[in-house]
Amino acid sequence: MKDFFQPFVKLLTLMVGLLVTISLLTAVLIGVVIFVFSGGSLPSLQEQATPQLAAVETETYRGVVPKEGMWKAPDWSTVDQEPNAEDIKYGRELIANTSTYLGPNGKVKKMSNGMNCQNCHLSAGTAPLGNNYGAVASTYPKVRARSGQMEDIPKRINDCFERSLNGKPLERNSKEMIAMVAYMEWLGKDVSKGESPKGSGIYELPFLDRAADPIKGKAVYAQQCQSCHMEDGQGMMKPDKTGYTYPPLWGDNSYNQGAGLFRMSRFAGYVKTNMPLGATFERPMLTDEEAWDVAAYVNSMPRPGKDLSKDWPDISKKPIDHPFGPFTDGFTEEQHKFGPFKPIVEARAQQASK
Ligand code: HEC
Ligand code: HEC
Repeated sequence: MKDFFQPFVKLLTLMVGLLVTISLLTAVLIGVVIFVFSGGSLPSLQEQATPQLAAVETETYRGVVPKEGMWKAPDWSTVDQEPNAEDIKYGRELIANTSTYLGPNGKVKKMSNGMNCQNCHLSAGTAPLGNNYGAVASTYPKVRARSGQMEDIPKRINDCFERSLNGKPLERNSKEMIAMVAYMEWLGKDVSKGESPKGSGIYELPFLDRAADPIKGKAVYAQQCQSCHMEDGQGMMKPDKTGYTYPPLWGDNSYNQGAGLFRMSRFAGYVKTNMPLGATFERPMLTDEEAWDVAAYVNSMPRPGKDLSKDWPDISKKPIDHPFGPFTDGFTEEQHKFGPFKPIVEARAQQASK
């Protein structure tokens, strides 16, 4: 009997084995098909190790301005075709390495605080929404409300020397002034007169509904800025002391209270599209609130003063975020410094329509 059944038992075992193998294979196949169609990819170890930039993921971090039609500097490789190429090149060098020539140990003259123009006018004044010079040649000379005077390019350059670089003005007919003006005129040579091209200057950051908050800003600073600009805001000098690796944000060597960046909207707009270093208008790294709050913190710290008594001779023309009275609109210095700014804008619009 036993001998009779043995082949059947063997066959049965074989068949069961085959069946199990086939179902396993089918299961694996179905699994693979589902995985591929659902667009999956295997997590690799490397991907997990790199920190993800928040930039593209969420609504708040979306690029602020589309790139199309933005001003671009002329091609630097064509500069030698210009009759004043030497001036233009020296001008660019002075913008990029101002301190080497005109800083506290400057080899041409000692007349400014050690910062470079490029610290605030990024990539020698060519970066889109990096406070670039795209609109300089086309819009100067013009009457500026801050001085109440007609200002040409040399006067405007000296404004930044005396305020942003907390220094002295440069002689109008000096080789250095001629060079910087030549560079700015070359940058703007393809812009039609009167036009401010898209992407020039500083980004206009939308106002918050509340006042900017220096206490929240201190936390933003600790997380996002301190690693380079240092806890004490003094930045980091280059070892050879010709300038800064990371420029100061407050204190004796920073811009003074008459500078553009001392206005909250200029600081917040500049930072939103450029800081922390590596951020751009397409990939900002701060939310609007973070940008306003960090501006409030940095601009609450001590910095050099300046006699501003001759500024804004027509006080009704003071920008809404100029923090020094008197004002014609009835708002306090505090609100003109930190906001909320919308009520000031509305009140002024009403005043104007009366
Ligand atoms: C601490 C930052 C800072 C530094 C450093 C600085 N600037 Fe400026 N500059 C500004 C700000 C802010 C504005 C105003 C931008 C605005 O209101 O849109 C400005 C405006 C200008 C403008 C007018 C731009 C326009 O389109 O109207 C010129 C020209 C200029 N700066 C030249 C210079 C030069 C030259 C240097 C170096 C000697 C320099 N700046 C250094 C912050 C700075
Ligand atoms: C990775 C380093 C780094 C970080 C982080 C960083 N910055 Fe900067 N920042 C720089 C450098 C470098 C410059 C000068 C750029 C140049 O000269 O090309 C600069 C320039 C500036 C300037 C203009 C120059 C000045 O000193 O006034 C401001 C304002 C500024 N940063 C604010 C901030 C704020 C606010 C944060 C945080 C939200 C921040 N930065 C984070 C490196 C950094």
